[in-house]
Amino acid sequence: MQILDGKKTAKTILNTIKIDVAQRATTGKKVPHLAAILVGANGASQTYVNSKVRTCNEIGFNSTMIEYEEDISEMKLLDKIQELNEDLSVDGILVQLPLPAHISEKKVIEAIAVAKDVDGFHPENIGRMIMGEEEAFVPATPYGIMLLLEHNNITTKGKHAVVLGRSNIVGRPMSILLSNNSNPGNCTVTVCHSKTENLNEICSQADIIVAAIGQAEFLQPEMVKDGAVVIDVGITRIPDDSKKSGYRLVGDVDFDKVAPKCSFITPVPGGVGPMTIAALMKNTYKSCTEKD
Ligand code: GUN
Repeated sequence: MQILDGKKTAKTILNTIKIDVAQRATTGKKVPHLAAILVGANGASQTYVNSKVRTCNEIGFNSTMIEYEEDISEMKLLDKIQELNEDLSVDGILVQLPLPAHISEKKVIEAIAVAKDVDGFHPENIGRMIMGEEEAFVPATPYGIMLLLEHNNITTKGKHAVVLGRSNIVGRPMSILLSNNSNPGNCTVTVCHSKTENLNEICSQADIIVAAIGQAEFLQPEMVKDGAVVIDVGITRIPDDSKKSGYRLVGDVDFDKVAPKCSFITPVPGGVGPMTIAALMKNTYKSCTEKD
């Protein structure tokens, strides 16, 4: 069994971008600029956005962090997005999800300019991704997983991949990318969800499992074939008084029990999380350099 070290792979990717950005700066070219919007005080969202902004700073990007109270009006948020759309210094805009119930996520996502939608959530980017168009921004988590598979030379061609979860952010785009005629890709993909029958049987036929259902330690060893590649997207905070933070992070995979059966497995934390950030940075870099 080998650990797929997302932290290490992300570092390699980010270092390459950092060198390119420094080169741009010395030649007087624009450096990428990400604007991140956080609404409310969701602890996990705060952690994620802080991490994204910190990474921008580490690799020489400009960043703007915009924080709003939970009760900000939808109109005010949409106005801000419009302002950022028109701001020529900004290359990428992300609005951290989930949003409070009184704000329409659909309206917010669709308000972001397609060319600045570095999260790849806009319907036009989703459509372009499905058609395999290079200019599409691919959602950061599935894109990060594809990069992780690529950088670690995991064979995917002809393999049976089972994706657990059908969210717009992870499961659905993941299933498209794995089935694309690309490397990594060329998988035969099964998407499972809460209404799937015979889930254990389907999972145990998988060469590759991507677990993205948001249920702590859902994937058990009897659901996993010997030698499978297991990618864990889940990240749930479990209260734990012995930790300084007051919680420990647990994935969708029962890691200790499942790991011995795998050829490769991602840890939580340090697997998919850092790759999501690396993919977001790649998208932001692409948005900037496409305008050269
Ligand atoms: N919430 C959970 N994952 C993501 C993500 O990748 N981007 C944004 N904007 N919100 C999220």
